[in-house]
Amino acid sequence: MRKIAFGLTTVALSIAATTSHAGEVEVLHWWTSGGEAAAINVLKEEMKDAGHTWKDFAVAGGAGESAMTVLKSRAISGNPPASAQIKGPTIQEWGDLGFLTNLDSVAAAGKWDQVLPPVISETMKHDGHYVAAPVNVHRVNWMWANPEVFRKSGASIPTSWEQFIVEAQKIKDAGFTPLAHGGQAWQDATLFEAIALAKGSDFYKKAFIELSDETLRSQDMIDVFTTFKKMHDFVDPGFSGRDWNIATSMVINGEAAIQIMGDWAKGEFTAAGKQAGIDYVCFPAPGTSGTFTFNIDSLAMFQVDGDEAQKAQQDLTRLILEPNFQETFNLNKGSIPARLNMPRDKFDACAHSAMDAFLASSSTGDLVPSMAHGMAVNSMVQGAIYDVVTNFFNNESMQATEAVDKLARAVKASM
Ligand code: GAL
Repeated sequence: MRKIAFGLTTVALSIAATTSHAGEVEVLHWWTSGGEAAAINVLKEEMKDAGHTWKDFAVAGGAGESAMTVLKSRAISGNPPASAQIKGPTIQEWGDLGFLTNLDSVAAAGKWDQVLPPVISETMKHDGHYVAAPVNVHRVNWMWANPEVFRKSGASIPTSWEQFIVEAQKIKDAGFTPLAHGGQAWQDATLFEAIALAKGSDFYKKAFIELSDETLRSQDMIDVFTTFKKMHDFVDPGFSGRDWNIATSMVINGEAAIQIMGDWAKGEFTAAGKQAGIDYVCFPAPGTSGTFTFNIDSLAMFQVDGDEAQKAQQDLTRLILEPNFQETFNLNKGSIPARLNMPRDKFDACAHSAMDAFLASSSTGDLVPSMAHGMAVNSMVQGAIYDVVTNFFNNESMQATEAVDKLARAVKASM
């Protein structure tokens, strides 16, 4: 008996000796689909290589609605994880509540102010101090298409929503599902936002950043709702509640022609061994070629106690901005690096096009934050827009004129 106990002590001592600076880092995220899991695994492995323990806190559910609910309950009970995937204005909400930790020393050592474009570095700061680390930039206004389904249907890739309706009808008549969609509030909002973006960046900004009552009630917004409702004719009967990656698989396997989705969808094509330009094609969502709705994923860091836990958290923060991680993570995730001046050679044509569009749109004022993905407005306003958009899509009798009134009222009440 004594011998066994002695044996265990020896093992314990030798582990402690080899990992004296090792700490545990618990990371809350919602990256559970094929492409997403491959991406976050890169960070897990790098942390393990640095001698730390990664405690995975994955809460499934696209766009992270469930993850955010779980995070709130952990924070309320005084036990938030060391790190959580939090984005955009929500970073400010957590910062205001005093939960986040100052990352300025890691950021200064890594020259974050120089290697990040201002639109990203500003989002990562609260009160002028870094509190989150960006892993990527997703472009949201994308259209993913199966060229074989288009060919068999005699349809062309649409460049406007008017044309989308014409081509989608051909695809439907040929016996395919034109639009792979999952009826979940955030996916409805992603589609709605893409249609609104085709009215131009000024309209988009007035509606979803300035929250102008006049724009929310305008004829243009009525048109957006009308086109959005029309999309209902092009989804399959099983769309309700479907996860986004299942919708992507419908395009991958040739059941459906198109998905309107951010480039995390590309992560699914990649995970399935498909190649851009051959097995699938990417185009900006109809009517949005010069614009870029951005969605920056980031890990915000919560205050943790103890030297080892703090060291693990700092290493995590540092690793995220390293070129190696930025490249490998984004090759798997479908997004582009947050870090500037990264080599492009390993990235495909869709990523190159996103990189070009990101740079070009930043100088023309056409780089806009995604409302559907929590970059444009706080979570209250976003929730109010989600509710109106999704109720409208699922309510056959609701008119677009009624929807704009509900939208304007809901936004006002949540501001
Ligand atoms: C987005 C997130 C992406 C992707 C997507 C689907 O909000 O920024 O990284 O994971 O949800 O889950």
